[in-house]
Amino acid sequence: YTGNYDEPYRPAFHFTPPSQWMNDPNGLVYHNGKYHLFYQYHPHSNVWGPMHWGHAESKDLVHWTHLPIALYPDEKGHIFSGSAVIDKNNTAGFGKDAMVAIYTYHSDELWKQGHKNTESQAIAYSLDEGKTWTKYKNNPVLNNTGEQDFRDPKVFWNDATNKWIMVLAVHDMIRIFSSPNLKDWTFESNFQPREDLVLGVWECPDLFPMDYQGQQKWVMIVNHGDKAVNGGSGTRYFVGDFDGKKFTPEAPGKWLDFGTDYYAAVTFGNAPDGKKMIQGWMSNWQYATKVPTEVWRSAMALPRELSLSKDANGWFLRQETLSAMASIKDSVYSSEWTALPFKETLPTESEVAFVIDGGTDNLLVEIGNVDGEKIVLQLKDGQFSIDRTKSGKLDFSDKFASVQTMPVPEKIVSVQLFLDNSSVEVFLNEGKYVMTNLFFPTEPYNIISVAGSSKEIKHVDINKLNN
Ligand code: FRU
Repeated sequence: YTGNYDEPYRPAFHFTPPSQWMNDPNGLVYHNGKYHLFYQYHPHSNVWGPMHWGHAESKDLVHWTHLPIALYPDEKGHIFSGSAVIDKNNTAGFGKDAMVAIYTYHSDELWKQGHKNTESQAIAYSLDEGKTWTKYKNNPVLNNTGEQDFRDPKVFWNDATNKWIMVLAVHDMIRIFSSPNLKDWTFESNFQPREDLVLGVWECPDLFPMDYQGQQKWVMIVNHGDKAVNGGSGTRYFVGDFDGKKFTPEAPGKWLDFGTDYYAAVTFGNAPDGKKMIQGWMSNWQYATKVPTEVWRSAMALPRELSLSKDANGWFLRQETLSAMASIKDSVYSSEWTALPFKETLPTESEVAFVIDGGTDNLLVEIGNVDGEKIVLQLKDGQFSIDRTKSGKLDFSDKFASVQTMPVPEKIVSVQLFLDNSSVEVFLNEGKYVMTNLFFPTEPYNIISVAGSSKEIKHVDINKLNN
């Protein structure tokens, strides 16, 4: 994303660390014209280890600048996932407009001694736009109450109650706390929908208001480390109400992205114009440490703008990529009323968008290379699927070669695909149905074919993407 990398599989327009291991996005916050992306980082290896917070910033969420590591592990533990806020009213006394990070300490020492309650919440502040940080001297600010998984605090200022709110993942529930000053936290409530107890460990929650035609609803995000809809890690959300203490969902949770490679997604705090941008880690704990890259491991999915919408099945979140991406797009192919089947060459790093007049319930898209390696995207019998069983390298994990499915109980009218050197993000019907997938071909993909029951597609646009 920034820098001229030419290793195989290195994404051209997705964020990657310059080298070594990365997982969750952390501390996503906007301040003084810049978005900050911190991330779970292990600078000494291309697999997970003692966690740091890496750091990058961007004016548009498209072009990124790498910055020095923000937070290092210390005698209290590794720096696990968390969030960042701008303390406009200086409630914590660190300074007006201080950037305050709220993160989890994970103590390996305690873990090795056989303790289960190894995690607690701590804070650090920066007065220079996240470049240098001071850890609060009385950390932790929220002690463990005996739980094994007690982490990933996401904090925001709640105008209605004039308090900070923290949502925290506690093994198989989300716990809500409030605070006047980021230092003293009071328990408010637990959120633990019954039907979700079967899902794997609860991690990286988020809670934020969204507007729907003048009506305010609240969205709770919960990431599950395992047993997601297509296996392994995945991101879920609930729409409901929040009274400053308790979140009440209006309906069961839904998966945000049905692909296997979208995890630990949380939103940017303090974003301009009340916008809600979400960013996820583009991998899955089932095989993240084994994917065949050496210099670096893992990319972030494209930042997406969320909007709340409603249909006969209730509330849903729409996810759309950012208009700022126009600055890295070059049109290489564009046509009207193209007959199906359709076949074209593709730049390896590209966006493909097409519209099907009247919609279709039967579609087959293949993207691959001359060696016959490919991913197969198909809509049939109300299901959309991505088959990567012939996508290239598969043997690094027995979990990787999969066919993933997503219910699509309506016609598909628009298809938008973002293809990078080792990933595809699929957005159907303007971001109503989304799937994100990794693949590792032996030669880059550069051919697309589209077939289906429709005779023609209305527009096809292929853009080369690069920055
Ligand atoms: C999610 C997660 C978090 C944790 C972090 C550790 O991917 O397991 O719950 O804070 O990664 O790196």
